[in-house]
Amino acid sequence: MSEIYIQLPPSTAIAYPVHVGSHLLPQLGQRIKQCAPSPSCALITDDHVAKYYLPTMKASLESAGYRVCTFVFPAGETNKTLHTVAAAYDALLSARLERSSPVIALGGGVTGDLAGFVGSTLLRGVPFIQVPTTLLAAVDASVGGKVGVDHAMGKNLIGAFHQPAAVFTDVATFKTLPPLEIQCGLAECVKHAIIKDARLFEFIDHNLSAVLACDAAALAELVAWNVQIKAAVVMADPFERGDRALLNLGHTFGHALETLSGFANLAHGQAVALGVVAACRLAADRGEFPDASALAVESLLTRIGLPVRIPIADPAAVFKAMGSDKKIIAGHLRLILPSEHIGQARIAADIPESQIMQAIGYIQQHGASTA
Ligand SMILES: NC(=O)c1ccc[n+]([C@@H]2O[C@H](COP(=O)([O-])OP(=O)(O)OC[C@H]3O[C@@H](n4cnc5c(N)ncnc54)[C@H](O)[C@@H]3O)[C@@H](O)[C@H]2O)c1
Ligand SMILES: [Zn+2]
Repeated sequence: MSEIYIQLPPSTAIAYPVHVGSHLLPQLGQRIKQCAPSPSCALITDDHVAKYYLPTMKASLESAGYRVCTFVFPAGETNKTLHTVAAAYDALLSARLERSSPVIALGGGVTGDLAGFVGSTLLRGVPFIQVPTTLLAAVDASVGGKVGVDHAMGKNLIGAFHQPAAVFTDVATFKTLPPLEIQCGLAECVKHAIIKDARLFEFIDHNLSAVLACDAAALAELVAWNVQIKAAVVMADPFERGDRALLNLGHTFGHALETLSGFANLAHGQAVALGVVAACRLAADRGEFPDASALAVESLLTRIGLPVRIPIADPAAVFKAMGSDKKIIAGHLRLILPSEHIGQARIAADIPESQIMQAIGYIQQHGASTA
């Protein structure tokens, strides 16, 4: 098992470990009890994950001496709402949880974001433990302390920063994930590689079949590596005032495509893959990124099984939707572009509309039309 320590600036006095291993669930009760001692705890999960892992997790917590209050909600982004949060408050307050009682998120990013928000507000904040069970949650959502829920007016519009007391990733749980979820998690891993680490790009390239087959050793190395990258970025910019924006590579294009597809037929990771291709093409066209690297990115994403082209009915609508992304500062569309080589990226605020339209045209698949 590997451990990564996340240490936020000394002024915040926040530090927590991220443990990555295989078959950890049965021993998690004891480990959680060490970092969050209390007579009781709350276990929050969705109904898909509950089916596979709730009995093991609950038994482990009970054998560590916790009285466990379980809250299970229906799986899916559409339930990451204040409505579900209110139902969780009802369950947890009726169970008389205390200020010391940890809220434990067992599940993907939806569960982590929702349970973290509950943990940040219940009794003005209780300890929070993340047990991510998707690749995306392990490498992305569980690290960084952003928690929250969606509003009818947009995704993640209500939230807080609430760092977990610890994160435990058991990669053995990924075995029950649909293949699309692994592919979508890999989109964020490729993103991390492009912005920070060419060696990670090679690792994904060389170990792709093992990762797609959910080989425990390959997954554990992949997760630990990506957590280190995300942690380094978050540690340098815990409240997202500067370089943390690099993590948005592919996301401004991606969010626009997601918005136009109505979230229905395009998964987030698929949208990110398309956005990454567009950003790489844009940088290559500007002479800031080698053409061969842009093609290598496209080829790796294709091998993962992610889309690199999409039918777009109206490219101008994609550009317009990019302008409504919340990452706009003082009217300027900020794009993250790979810079010089794989492993480095920059924030660009000065890209002309014509170049952005050209990049949208590049990922446009001609023939059909949906987005
Ligand atoms: N807080 C952050 O910094 C951050 C970063 C990235 C994404 N997110 C959020 O994360 C969410 C997406 O996360 P996600 O992709 O994990 O979605 P998710 O939580 O909806 O999980 C995807 C699906 O897989 C199921 N599932 C989870 N673990 C499983 C397992 N081991 N076996 C079988 N099925 C399993 C879930 O029930 C769900 O149906 C979005 O809401 C996004 O906004 C947050
Ligand atoms: Zn993302």
